[in-house]
Amino acid sequence: MPLADLKDLVFGAWDPIPDDAYAAATKAGVLERAHLEPIADFLKGIRPMPAAFDQNYVKRLQGSNVKRAKTKRELAEQLRADIRNFKKSSGVDRLVMVWCASTEVFITPGPTHQTLATFEQAMEHNDPAIAPSMLYAYAALMENVPFANGAPNLTVDVPALAQLAEDRKLPIGGKDFKTGQTMMKTVLAPAFKARMLGLAGWYSTNILGNRDGEVLDDPESFKTKEESKLGVLEYILQPELYPELYGKVFHKVRINYYPPRGDNKEGWDNIDIFGWLGYPMQIKVDFLCRDSILAAPIVLDLALFFDLAQRAGLSGVQEWLSFYFKSPQTAPGLYPEHDLFIQQTKLKNTLRWLMGEQQITHLGVEYYEYGEK
Ligand SMILES: NC(=O)c1ccc[n+]([C@@H]2O[C@H](COP(=O)([O-])OP(=O)(O)OC[C@H]3O[C@@H](n4cnc5c(N)ncnc54)[C@H](O)[C@@H]3O)[C@@H](O)[C@H]2O)c1
Repeated sequence: MPLADLKDLVFGAWDPIPDDAYAAATKAGVLERAHLEPIADFLKGIRPMPAAFDQNYVKRLQGSNVKRAKTKRELAEQLRADIRNFKKSSGVDRLVMVWCASTEVFITPGPTHQTLATFEQAMEHNDPAIAPSMLYAYAALMENVPFANGAPNLTVDVPALAQLAEDRKLPIGGKDFKTGQTMMKTVLAPAFKARMLGLAGWYSTNILGNRDGEVLDDPESFKTKEESKLGVLEYILQPELYPELYGKVFHKVRINYYPPRGDNKEGWDNIDIFGWLGYPMQIKVDFLCRDSILAAPIVLDLALFFDLAQRAGLSGVQEWLSFYFKSPQTAPGLYPEHDLFIQQTKLKNTLRWLMGEQQITHLGVEYYEYGEK
């Protein structure tokens, strides 16, 4: 694939917390000194630009490195200027923006999000329905930069911005990186479905102690995450088609902030399934994972694939990249695909299609005599 070369990548960021990348990585404690020290100077050179930040949307955070403006529209214009300056000072040809910032409070799509005109008006009037993440998405699209959303916030998943992306021929996508517990869920649930094993309940809980855990300890941010995590089973199991097997699933998801664990999250699942004649069985999954170690390669893949998508002339929602997301954004009227293996096949076949190769159907008749006729 003609992907951008890793050695040509340059990184920039905004953050209300002024730490440079070295200070932030040292505090986060994810990577060991042996991995950080050899690139200390490189990391110290990545200093966050002042953020378009509003504590009303991320209640547990406070930061001093923030932009000031009378209206949200002005903030968006400042972000646009940052993008232009970054492009100039770094000397890069192309940009991709990936939202890796905190999960914002829950917002549902409303009238302000319907058209570009209502959206821009709402920015002028400091409408609470316009969250900071939306300002970044708007700024990116106005500067011809593809935008991927790694958090569960609404952000670019509103008609106004989806249309803006279509009009400007820009790829967009989201939401919420699929890394730990939900990745496992979208592996196991298709297996139950394939074997027609019934499901009575799925209880998922997590303990984690990083800053993300602290932000998600606020009920309003957790609500955004909860919605994103809860959706997957419904789509995979299709209870409307199999009411006896999946019509009464009790699905619960919890996230508990527990500082001693830092970034080393424990995701624990108790799954109550039932087999032939309704006999019950249980599965327990205890995933001792590392949140950022799972997420970082996804950010990189998305940057490379969104750049590729833009160069290939793909615009609007990039459903073929659903593989990376817990709550895949879709074109209006389509249902999101959650099964990790269907997502992977979609991803590979789209890449084959982009390269002018034949898609693999897994039909397999070529192994038999009649396949040749
Ligand atoms: N495995 C994972 O790490 C994983 C998986 C799925 C989704 N996510 C999501 O990715 C996001 C980042 O996760 P994390 O663990 O790196 O969190 P983190 O708290 O370590 O980092 C988020 C950063 O965003 C900054 N921020 C908040 N609001 C901002 C704004 N308006 N502008 C600029 N910066 C802002 C915060 O100050 C913080 O430094 C979260 O929304 C999280 O839910 C992470």
